[in-house]
Amino acid sequence: MSLLHVINHPMVQHKLTIMRDKSTGSKDFRELLNEISLLMGYEVTRDIPLEDVDIETPICKMTAKEVSGRKLAIVPILRAGLGMVEGLHTLVPVAKVGHIGLYRNEETHEPVEYYCKLPEDIQDRLVIVTDPMLATGGSACDAITMLKAKGCRNIRLMCLVSVPEGIKKVQNEHPDVDIYTAAVDDGLNENAYIVPGLGDAGDRIFGTK
Ligand code: PRP
Ligand code: URA
Repeated sequence: MSLLHVINHPMVQHKLTIMRDKSTGSKDFRELLNEISLLMGYEVTRDIPLEDVDIETPICKMTAKEVSGRKLAIVPILRAGLGMVEGLHTLVPVAKVGHIGLYRNEETHEPVEYYCKLPEDIQDRLVIVTDPMLATGGSACDAITMLKAKGCRNIRLMCLVSVPEGIKKVQNEHPDVDIYTAAVDDGLNENAYIVPGLGDAGDRIFGTK
């Protein structure tokens, strides 16, 4: 069974509260999502292996630590997942970025694929899938299935707000994928929106409504 990591650091919770507030505009919403993504990135990358490297400081030689050969890829689910890339990139500037385009059909709430462009060596990388909202879980599950079809075996899911329904679906379909989230909300409304949630993440990031 995959692990659920709830990142309840006070700074993450504080910033999330401002994001949830409907009076917060797109500029602040985007900036806060960047900041939270960087903070969550600490936890998502917490167990990345280190190896010894010999260096010389201005004072003397030493054996220090560096992140070992295992490489990273960030894969946002378009559109809203894009809002979490910059924060992670600040933390891991050399990470490659793939893109998976999915949108939810407004009536069925089922994800529809419209784009997929991934780094050539994606199967050799630790892949962090980003999407602020884990609602029914359909989009996250489909994105992970697409990555596995490309040979990825080391995948983590980073979302901002999730609900038990979406968590359960990901854990059932992809028990090898750990989930990192800043909040587990109450559930879904009749339109499959997260309650209390923060509304439509893509529209709030890009100002489209
Ligand atoms: C939103 C969100 C997730 C998905 C979550 O995307 O960003 O990708 O819905 O819902 P699910 O867990 O029920 O699949 P949306 O389809 O609104 O597209 P957008 O990011 O382009 O706005
Ligand atoms: N997608 C969103 O952007 N928000 C929700 O609450 C659910 C899906």
